Parts: sequence; structure tokens; C-alpha cells
Amino acid sequence: MKIAFGSDHAGIELKLYLMEHLKEKGHECVDYGNYDPNDRGDDYPAPGRRVAEAIRDGEAEKGVLICGTGLGISLAANKVPGIRACVCSEPYTASMSVRHNNCQIVSMGARVVGRELAVMIADTFFEARFEGGRHQNRVDMISQIEEDYGKK
Ligand code: RB5
Repeated sequence: MKIAFGSDHAGIELKLYLMEHLKEKGHECVDYGNYDPNDRGDDYPAPGRRVAEAIRDGEAEKGVLICGTGLGISLAANKVPGIRACVCSEPYTASMSVRHNNCQIVSMGARVVGRELAVMIADTFFEARFEGGRHQNRVDMISQIEEDYGKK
């Protein structure tokens, strides 16, 4: 699977670690920045937006976002119409975010989860499959909110 990665300065180290892990599992991993831990000009809304737009434009199928908490970068990504990004600090939520919510992006906090927990969260996220059915109706209701506010 082609996966887009993004982080702010706080998330670079964990992002690179996860990219290596997922490459070893056979995924194609593309880094959408931030690339420099000293670059505070590339704050979390920018890489969050770049990864979300890459998915919306079909450049990547799914994404991983990392900032200090996982919050700011996911909030930014969720502003891109059609994108569902979820902050996960444990594997159960990561699994359900795909099975029930059809999220395309998993977001994590580098100041919240350690490397090995992050690996478990990422592996769970990429192994999970959307269950559709009644969950599709609920995801459609989310899309309807975007449509009602003229964001499509
Ligand atoms: C940066 O210090 C921090 O605020 C950011 O990484 C993130 O946690 C915001 O949600």
C-alpha cells in the first residue's frame, strides 16, 4: 500500500521509525515533511494538510500523521473534505477507526506513545478493513455534514 507520512518537528523521529518499519513490511512510504526538527516554520497544520490532500488527490491510499499529541495535526487533516483522521493511543481504537469509521489516516502523539506501541497501533490500523453496512450509513452522515456546509 502507498502510505503518506507527515509530522511537525515533534514527530519527525517517530515518523522515520514507523516509515522504516512499514517499508520492511512491504509498504511504499512517502514523506510529506516536516524534514528538519529545527524547522518550526512547518508547524502541524501544514504537514497535516499535505498528507490529507495527497490522499484526497489519490497520491496515497492512507496516511500516518505525528505531532506532539497527535491532536493538532489530525484536526488540520480533518478540515480537508472527505478525510477522516483519528488520534490513536492504543490498538483497539486504531482497529475500530478503520472497521467502523473508515478512517484513512492514523494520527499519533510522539509525546504520548512509545515506539513499540506506535508500531502496534500502525500495524493494527493497516491490517484492519472497513466493515461497511450500517457503518457506511454513519460515515455517509459525516460526509453529509460537509456537503451541508458546502465543503465538497
Ligand atoms: C508542538 O509543540 C505541539 O504543540 C504539537 O506537536 C502538537 O502536539 C499539537 O497538537
